[in-house]
Amino acid sequence: MRFPYNEKVLEHFKNPRNVGKIEDPDGKAIVGSPACGDMVAVFIKVEPTEHRITDAKFESYGCASNIATGSIITELAKGKTIEEAKSISWQQASEALGGLPKIKAHCSVLAVEGLREAITNYEEKHGLVKNKEPTTAEVIKRRLKNVMNPITGLDIVRGELVKDIKIENGNVDIYVDLPEAHIFAGNIRDEVKERVETLWDVKKVEIHFND
Ligand code: FES
Repeated sequence: MRFPYNEKVLEHFKNPRNVGKIEDPDGKAIVGSPACGDMVAVFIKVEPTEHRITDAKFESYGCASNIATGSIITELAKGKTIEEAKSISWQQASEALGGLPKIKAHCSVLAVEGLREAITNYEEKHGLVKNKEPTTAEVIKRRLKNVMNPITGLDIVRGELVKDIKIENGNVDIYVDLPEAHIFAGNIRDEVKERVETLWDVKKVEIHFND
């Protein structure tokens, strides 16, 4: 069988570098692709003086392209400062892999976005955010587009599970159209909190399910 991938992509797919979780990471992110519904998680360790990435790992629930890109971008990110690592593009990742089929561009975009989001998570947790955009319902919805409902395979915004978002004096209330007893309610609560709590002007996040 002829694969649409070159030798280098196949090599990174078969022997991906830096697979796994980092316990107690300094930054982490889970992002999903709207194009295919696949997901990738990225974890980083950062040295706090120069903000240099000392370790990067990933877990992919995506395809061969996504795994190969996760492998190469974690390699490229290690040793770089967060500013340098932020500018790693999917084109660079694809070039470093000797090229990916065009139809697979979104898979490497997903891995690169995972790295960028993990860096943002680090910056938010360490008060390093420069662009202090005030938190609005739109900002929160953008974040929640990466929280998936495992039953439908859709994120909770596109799946219309987010009924309402109220923001007052840094207190955020998010109303989710799922019963409190839903098997994934606990996971969804944790993920939503994790993504919203780090926003610079947010003090408290409450998730409300249906009774
Ligand atoms: Fe989903 Fe590649 S097809 S990540």
